[in-house]
Amino acid sequence: MVKQEVIAIDGPAASGKSTVAKEVAQRIGAVYADSGALYRLVTWWLLAQGIDPEDHQAVRGALETLKIEAAVVEGRITYSTGDECPADALRTQRVNSAVSPVAANADVRHVVTAILQSLARFGMLVMEGRDIGTVVFPDAAFKFYLDASPEVRARRRFTDKDGNVDKAALEDVHKSLARRDVIDSSRKTAPLRIADDAAVIDTSDLDIEGVVKRILDTVASDIC
Ligand code: CDP
Repeated sequence: MVKQEVIAIDGPAASGKSTVAKEVAQRIGAVYADSGALYRLVTWWLLAQGIDPEDHQAVRGALETLKIEAAVVEGRITYSTGDECPADALRTQRVNSAVSPVAANADVRHVVTAILQSLARFGMLVMEGRDIGTVVFPDAAFKFYLDASPEVRARRRFTDKDGNVDKAALEDVHKSLARRDVIDSSRKTAPLRIADDAAVIDTSDLDIEGVVKRILDTVASDIC
């Protein structure tokens, strides 16, 4: 079987996927694609249109008018709806809370999956997400699943944002990640799960360089 020129990196929120995927892509000269950013953009756009993400009829109607452009800018995929999207709009609490319910919608997944698959036209991809190795690119040449304990993930996400640890805030981040994990893993369409042929890397006790090295070693040993 011909494998697709894709390194799929899946895993739950704050498992280290983004940083690792960007670094791997840069080192091998591939294009980095963040699939979560596209779910976030669709979520932001629906909210900006005044659509209730839980109203499936309204979401379906709105999707028919949605046009997304993708391009490669400095080695990574950028997406645009044509509407002005403020730089940090995709990571607001509002989008954080709505994105997993939106991503559980089969109509949304259908549209987003087709866009993600079309990115193969840009050449070798390192794509991170939840269902890249299972659904988007089931024939990806390499599949990795990154994981870490919920406590480590909450601490990472919190530290990402602020740098110092406040117990109450940490608890909030922990709860919000846990809520997204439950929705992402239990949804009917393309739930977060480990592809049968994925290499699982527990990143709890590894730094970024350690994870990047594991991935690059696997890729190199397979190619040589
Ligand atoms: O950065 P973080 O890990 O917090 O999340 P993300 O990668 O930006 O993804 C945001 C949300 O999009 C996830 O919680 C999923 O609900 C959804 N998603 C998905 O369903 N499938 C993907 N391939 C990527 C993201």
